[in-house]
Amino acid sequence: MSEQVLRMFLDKEGEYVSGEAISRELQVSRTAVWKKIRKLEEEGYRFEASRKLGYKLLSGPDRLSAVKLQAMLDTRWLGRRLHLHDTVDSTQHVARRLAEEGAPEGTLVIAEQQLQGKGRLGRRWESPKGKGVWLSLLLRPKLSLQRSPQLTLLTAVALCRALRRLTELDIGIKWPNDLLSGGKKLSGILLESSAEEERLSYVIAGIGISANLEESDYPPELLEKAASLYMLGGRKLDRHQIVASFMKELEELYELYMREGFCPIRTLWEALAVSLHKHAVLTTPQGELEGVPVGLDENGALLLKMDNGEVLPVFSAEMGWP
Ligand code: BTN
Repeated sequence: MSEQVLRMFLDKEGEYVSGEAISRELQVSRTAVWKKIRKLEEEGYRFEASRKLGYKLLSGPDRLSAVKLQAMLDTRWLGRRLHLHDTVDSTQHVARRLAEEGAPEGTLVIAEQQLQGKGRLGRRWESPKGKGVWLSLLLRPKLSLQRSPQLTLLTAVALCRALRRLTELDIGIKWPNDLLSGGKKLSGILLESSAEEERLSYVIAGIGISANLEESDYPPELLEKAASLYMLGGRKLDRHQIVASFMKELEELYELYMREGFCPIRTLWEALAVSLHKHAVLTTPQGELEGVPVGLDENGALLLKMDNGEVLPVFSAEMGWP
């Protein structure tokens, strides 16, 4: 019920809501309403109380709140099973454990802080407390293992669209799935999957969004190539809002993908890409490849046009610019 009370305040942002209106809407006593407001205050919400007008929500806690997240989510299934933690080693590990225990598709794991955040290619992902969005999502798509790169591209498109809508920043996708603005990386995606006989049994999509990190949160060597939405846009963002709008965008695109396949996702990805049509160096386990990326093929591989005119599909590599 705290969630329903909070939703009423969030729907009437900046306005007074009377205790009577809440008790009528939720069909509970005025005392029960008062107790719920006290409970929200204990969680860090601040209200202004007026004898005549009721309560006005002034601010929320800096901490992520499960109640607030649930109240703000506007999805049917994505993120509805929520596991919110203070500190974990990696949300990827927590989500994997839940997947093995049979948790349903759409299960969302979020942590305020990760002690061993994992990046792509075995790298470490810095995840300081209370400043970013560190989350993992459990998906159970009925797809062949071969199509899992498409899910990575889809996730990047959803995140890019959500963040562009929430900020005034010009955010683009660097292949395969880094989000950049002003040439700096502000988010990363790590997809880990489990498969049986070439069919995916589940996928854990790990997303790190550097939302409100400050310069001092970064190791100096990272500052040249990474930044947070706050550092780039000059404004702190409500992390609940980031999660809610990303979940909404991802649910819609995932359903579109299941209905219509990869083609519409490819078009959206290409429109947001910042790494097409300029000379690039791709470092693959087999060595370096140079050429001009010209688009994606129908499987989601990057099409690299080499100097001799040959076009080569590349599934996995690290992209750099000479
Ligand atoms: C990258 O290298 O760009 C991918 C970074 C992915 C980081 C996220 S944060 C939430 C989830 N848990 C992890 O340990 N890693 C992913």
